[in-house]
Amino acid sequence: MTLQALRGTTDIYGEAIADWTHIEQSVRASARLYGYDEIRTPILEDSALFLRSIGETSDIVQKEMFRFEDRGGHDMVLRPEGTAAVVRALLQHKMHKQQALNRLFYMGPMFRAERPQAGRYRQFHQCGVEALGSEHPAVDAEVITLCYQLLKNCGVQDLRINITSMGTRQDQQASAEALKARLQPHIDQLCAECQARLAKNVFRSLDCKKEQCRTLAWEGGWPFLLSTESQEHYDAVRRALDAAQIEYNDQEAFARGLDYYTRTVFEVQASGLGAQNVVAAGGRYDHLVEDLGGPAVSAVGFAAGMERILIAAGEHLTTEPQQRHGVFLAVTHAELLEQGIRYVQQLREQGVHAMMDFNVRSLKAQFREADRLRMQYVVVFGERELSEKRIALKDLDQGTQEQIHLNEWVAHITQLAKN
Ligand code: HAM
Repeated sequence: MTLQALRGTTDIYGEAIADWTHIEQSVRASARLYGYDEIRTPILEDSALFLRSIGETSDIVQKEMFRFEDRGGHDMVLRPEGTAAVVRALLQHKMHKQQALNRLFYMGPMFRAERPQAGRYRQFHQCGVEALGSEHPAVDAEVITLCYQLLKNCGVQDLRINITSMGTRQDQQASAEALKARLQPHIDQLCAECQARLAKNVFRSLDCKKEQCRTLAWEGGWPFLLSTESQEHYDAVRRALDAAQIEYNDQEAFARGLDYYTRTVFEVQASGLGAQNVVAAGGRYDHLVEDLGGPAVSAVGFAAGMERILIAAGEHLTTEPQQRHGVFLAVTHAELLEQGIRYVQQLREQGVHAMMDFNVRSLKAQFREADRLRMQYVVVFGERELSEKRIALKDLDQGTQEQIHLNEWVAHITQLAKN
């Protein structure tokens, strides 16, 4: 049996690395433009963190967490998302006491045991931001604007931002009662899960996998009733987005799969993604910090799927073709191998990308290898070069050649490589 990567996981290698590096750099640069600092949290977390944040009735917690006990009986999970982990870190390191508003961004692998398909994986990568410590509607708008600019900077075109408000937690209690009352007469038509959800968390029927449940749940239109205060907050978010000249669509209702949201929620769709067309999503979570044992700290954030960014960016990925650089030392006599190793090490210590072929193959084979490695220079080193004390330095980019004294070529090429 040949061993294979697990279903829903992928090896990233070869040319894809340039695309990934490009996306990672664009994410970092975009986040920094808005003053967000990087945070890296562990991939392994205590299961309780996600049970208490994403919601016990959510699909992620019920079906999709890679959850296990370690040998010591500790209940842990491979993180399915980043927000709860960032909140845990905020509280653990008392960041909220050091400054009122913490702006953080992160990137890394997340894990969900979903049925794999195009754009949906079991190990996938998210980049995300969280602004913790303000309920100002301008912060919601800033997060949405950053999301938009980040996706643009990564090369994603044809973006569409859907935005809506789910109201405060208090509003949601009233909305839940209203939705329950509406669904109760149809309880027989709901799946067993949704029947249980009716008592526990009726909003989960909005994104039930069964179409019949979804249809019934959405029948009365957008189920979230907004208090005056919520409406004003939502209006102010849209005014701030208008000020930033960000276009959005506030006419299309959509459900979020995580329980912690209050007030503003949004998703960004991109073309070229097929069924999984949501490239990024997020919203406000005003009670998560409290729910995880902290003080009242309002927050808002989003996460984007990096695989989906890559698919959506497609040919608009602006990765440059790899430039030639560095020097390849072609040693033509086995007895000179150690001297060659010495040269290569000297170059590397000077910060010059240097490679050689330990097998002393034909010059032709070595030139081919230098070309494949996209090296800029080739230096041939053999007995003749040793006796004449001169080497030939070939520039593969320019097609030129120069002769240099054996004692000077390392310094010379170090100079060239640094220019
Ligand atoms: P989410 O909607 O669960 O939100 O995920 C955000 C994005 O991650 C999705 O829009 C999608 O692009 C990507 N994604 C999710 N699951 C998969 C998968 N199985 N395969 C590939 N890509 C996937 C969150 O995770 C929240 N933490 C977002 C947030 C941050 N809300 C506030 N702050």
